[in-house]
Amino acid sequence: MKVLVVMAHPRRDSLTGQVTDAVVTGLADAGDEAELVDLYGEGFDPLITPADEPDWGSVNKPYSHAVQTEIERLQRNDGIILVFPIWWWSFPAILKGWIDRVWNKDIAYGSKFLSHKRALAIGLSASDAATYAKRGYDTAIETQIVTGIFDFCGIADGRFEYLHGSTDGGERPALLLQEAREMGRTFSIGL
Ligand SMILES: Cc1cc2nc3c(=O)[nH]c(=O)nc-3n(C[C@H](O)[C@H](O)[C@H](O)COP(=O)(O)O)c2cc1C
Repeated sequence: MKVLVVMAHPRRDSLTGQVTDAVVTGLADAGDEAELVDLYGEGFDPLITPADEPDWGSVNKPYSHAVQTEIERLQRNDGIILVFPIWWWSFPAILKGWIDRVWNKDIAYGSKFLSHKRALAIGLSASDAATYAKRGYDTAIETQIVTGIFDFCGIADGRFEYLHGSTDGGERPALLLQEAREMGRTFSIGL
């Protein structure tokens, strides 16, 4: 299976970057092929411009060259994994902008939908699960990404996974990297 792995972090050597590499290694363990998108590293511009605004009155608007390139990358894979640190109980602005611009009308919703068989969002989180549950942040982020983005765009098999305790230090990073590799290894099971 070909899987687009999208990483959103300003530092390639961050824990998020290492988690991304572990996911890619896990995918390879299972014989799956990863295509990596490093949004910061590639200088992706998250700001939507008029060229990439949806045209609500017609179908198949030709989007900007930059977005067209991203759409091709999106469409030549049949699975997708997003890897990011949780910032303010949500995901980083650069990733939001990538969704805003690339998962566009008549590409991902509207007259056409995405055909990816499975999607996974992996959020690195400093706080523990109880903190998320206490305020409902866990259901909020899951509803936003799994229902509001994956399912809305035609990917029914989507889920969200946390890697909690990302700033704890000690043995925690190594444990999280093991978990991440396992997420990659098991990603395509059953497909
Ligand atoms: C701007 C910002 C906002 C953050 N907001 C949250 C948050 O809402 N919940 C949380 O659990 N951690 C939050 N954190 C902590 C990050 O999730 C944590 O720094 C990250 O997971 C560590 O991984 P990294 O070393 O790859 O950055 C925030 C960090 C930053 C920089």
